[in-house]
Amino acid sequence: MTTTECLKLESVTAGYGKVPVISGIDLHLDTRDTIAVVGANGAGKTTLLRTIMGEIPSSQGTVTFDGQPLTDLPTYRRCKMGIGYVPEGRQLFPEMSVRENLELGAAREAGAERTRRIDETLQIFPKLKPLIKGRCGLLSGGEQQMVAIARALMGKPRLLLLDEPSTGLAPKIISELYATLAGLLESGLTIMVVEQNARAALRFANRALVFEQGRIAAAGTSKELLADPRMVEAYMGMAGAHLGAA
Ligand SMILES: Nc1ncnc2c1ncn2[C@@H]1O[C@H](COP(=O)(O)OP(=O)(O)O)[C@@H](O)[C@H]1O
Ligand SMILES: [Mg+2]
Repeated sequence: MTTTECLKLESVTAGYGKVPVISGIDLHLDTRDTIAVVGANGAGKTTLLRTIMGEIPSSQGTVTFDGQPLTDLPTYRRCKMGIGYVPEGRQLFPEMSVRENLELGAAREAGAERTRRIDETLQIFPKLKPLIKGRCGLLSGGEQQMVAIARALMGKPRLLLLDEPSTGLAPKIISELYATLAGLLESGLTIMVVEQNARAALRFANRALVFEQGRIAAAGTSKELLADPRMVEAYMGMAGAHLGAA
């Protein structure tokens, strides 16, 4: 089967103000592939995703999505091109209903199209159906994470970026979450997931990058990383200890 490239980063350097946080990042992600980015707190994982989304300008290098360089494109244009983003901490509106939160994921679409997409999204997350009118802030952590993913899917992305989706969730809920993400792959989605919870992410993704101080310290198949105790010990810290217990 021929593969096409979904996302490419070439020598990307970015940070806040003049201080670079991630430097010289090269990354290739094929369409329908899955990649996990793991690394300690502060390694630059969120900065990587925010750079791909255009929330932070890159001072060097290029980000290319579906063959198009994203240079200087604002975040909303990147969403429109087909990149969905589930940010760290979910970033939902707790006082608003589930439906209202979902609608924000397709705010630029006409009302009928938004309604159609909500129906589609609820088929992926049937557990949200009875909660749709309820206030988002009253939901459990797992339910809120579903809303955050569902909101990103409302934009009909071809690439989905998730930042620490398992944070604060019980192991059983984390398994359910990753099973849902695996189901999404069947529709042709490409997924990049950033996690400190290395075990869950590596079990899900085909390939993995280990971030250390804003650079790629190791890369390989997830299987390779899961099987290498030195890698686990050296690069995955507490998450690695968790991983070793698998
Ligand atoms: N908004 C910000 N302004 C300045 N520095 C930041 C900001 N966000 C993160 N940083 C710094 O960038 C580095 C990487 O952070 P981050 O990308 O959030 O790491 P991770 O997601 O891997 O925990 C850290 O040193 C952090 O303090
Ligand atoms: Mg982070």
